[in-house]
Amino acid sequence: MTSNVSYTMKKYQERLEQMLPNVFPEELSDDPTVKASLYSLLAGGKRIRPVLMYMFADLLGVDLEIIDDYAVAIEMIHTYSLIHDDLPCMDNDDLRRGKPTCHVANGENFALLAGDCLMNRAYERVLDAVKKHPETIDAAMYFATNAGILGMVGGQSIDLDSEGKKIDTGKLCELHEKKTGALINTSCLVPYLIYAAQKGKNEEVEKRIKRFSAGTGLGFQIKDDLLDVQADESVLGKTVGKDERDEKSTFVTVFGEKNAQKMLDDTYSDVFCALDELQEMGYQVRDLRQLSELLQNRIQ
Ligand code: IPE
Ligand code: IPE
Ligand code: MG
Ligand code: MG
Ligand code: MG
Repeated sequence: MTSNVSYTMKKYQERLEQMLPNVFPEELSDDPTVKASLYSLLAGGKRIRPVLMYMFADLLGVDLEIIDDYAVAIEMIHTYSLIHDDLPCMDNDDLRRGKPTCHVANGENFALLAGDCLMNRAYERVLDAVKKHPETIDAAMYFATNAGILGMVGGQSIDLDSEGKKIDTGKLCELHEKKTGALINTSCLVPYLIYAAQKGKNEEVEKRIKRFSAGTGLGFQIKDDLLDVQADESVLGKTVGKDERDEKSTFVTVFGEKNAQKMLDDTYSDVFCALDELQEMGYQVRDLRQLSELLQNRIQ
């Protein structure tokens, strides 16, 4: 990792980490659902989605304080998606973020409620943002659409429905673009939508951000598929080899490891092209470029 982006990532990760312990009212701190929610929310994680949100806000000159509620909310939605993803009725995993999964540590009942609780609390946070900054309503709408059946939840549905089946490339891309790409799109586009509401649309910029986020989202899940067969479990912090075990449709199980790697590199070429174009338009993309290199080559 190069030093510049490490500094930027650390700055935004710390900004987020300071807010996360306070997402629930103090008087609920003994509630078992709240405890289960915080168990997973505060277990670490790379915080890539909030980091992307802050980086795009910085790129576009959007006030970071307006982004705070959305950054907390996206990490809560992401964490709820992981808690539910690990449940015995879904991927049945027992290791997440280097710790026993939420249901292993807190029971299946409270893990289910923890997911519900994080999701609803995330939307309270988004509505709070809209109350404070009504011009962010389009960003809030985009957030909700991408988290739901047209986005992440829809992708998870295709994922489960594809277990043990042969699906075509188009369906596999749709699966990945929805289950993982949708929240990454939210991270990159929420700052743009706020910028557009405050300063007016810039369709040329929007096009490049969409190109960047589409590649980053798809690439993030192709890499996740590769890490499932390549990573060291103690570094990854989650079980390896589970996609084959569960007969999942992934880029590795469908195309093989070598082809999946090639597809990852092709996807990242597109990401870097989008950044080149933003740079030509006068935007400072050094951090985003280094972050993309990091994500392409990550080991966890
Ligand atoms: C894991 O996401 C699930 C996917 C969508 C691939 P991350 O790799 O971002 O997990 P954390 O947040 O760092 O634990
Ligand atoms: C999950 O994909 C994506 C989510 C929306 C949570 P995976 O099932 O491959 O994620 P991991 O490998 O368990 O983190
Ligand atoms: Mg899954
Ligand atoms: Mg899983
Ligand atoms: Mg996976």
